[in-house]
Amino acid sequence: MSVWAVLVAAGRGERLGEDRPKAFVRLGELPLLAEPIRRLDECAQIDHVVIVAPPEWEEPAILLAEEVGASKVAACVTGGATRTDSVRAGVADVPDDAEVILVHDAARPLVDDAVVERLIGALGEGFDGAVPVLPVPDTVKRVSEGVVAETLDRGGLVAVQTPQAFVASVLRGALNPVRANLAQATDCASLVEAAGGRVTTVEGDERLLKVTTPADLARVRGWL
Ligand code: CTP
Ligand code: MG
Repeated sequence: MSVWAVLVAAGRGERLGEDRPKAFVRLGELPLLAEPIRRLDECAQIDHVVIVAPPEWEEPAILLAEEVGASKVAACVTGGATRTDSVRAGVADVPDDAEVILVHDAARPLVDDAVVERLIGALGEGFDGAVPVLPVPDTVKRVSEGVVAETLDRGGLVAVQTPQAFVASVLRGALNPVRANLAQATDCASLVEAAGGRVTTVEGDERLLKVTTPADLARVRGWL
């Protein structure tokens, strides 16, 4: 079985508010992007990696992959205006014979083998997709103009992370631009669900925290 990882790093990092894209903000000794590249590269279950970089940052991304000694990086492509556009650009560079595509946010630097193993194992049970989830500790309400409209039943709610694993052909179909509302999607599983795919969940990992704000960056730094 051939497993390809698409590492999306093409966001601007506006909420982080630095002078460069989030993937190139320093995490430890190196830019943030170095961490997920190295970790995916070292993951035994992953055969090849496609990096999706912001426009004009393709070259620095390739140099970073060389710097960490990554041997599985097959390509570095330019991302698009939305996350979905960037995923589509990355998936377009995955060859047709790939069986599984794993999509991962570079903004979640601390990806590890254990979660990848859980995801691939779950796909093997016949699902179209698998996503890591964590329980939602707080009570969640739907609010309209500052007024509570509804309190959701927390029991059935989870927070979803990446990496997300998919049967390659199913993900390709779900990314098909003729489908509506692709731009708004914040993860790939929602596209697969909308296309009628069956997505299962596996245990997530607190350390897969997505770096969104400076406080998140500090937390992830502390875990290095
Ligand atoms: N992403 C991408 N292409 C985009 C938007 C996002 O590849 N056009 C990637 C980001 O690089 C990140 C992941 O999708 O790894 C999750 O996005 P997010 O955390 O929102 O990152 P940014 O869009 O960079 O941050 P912000 O929304 O604060 O600008
Ligand atoms: Mg964003």
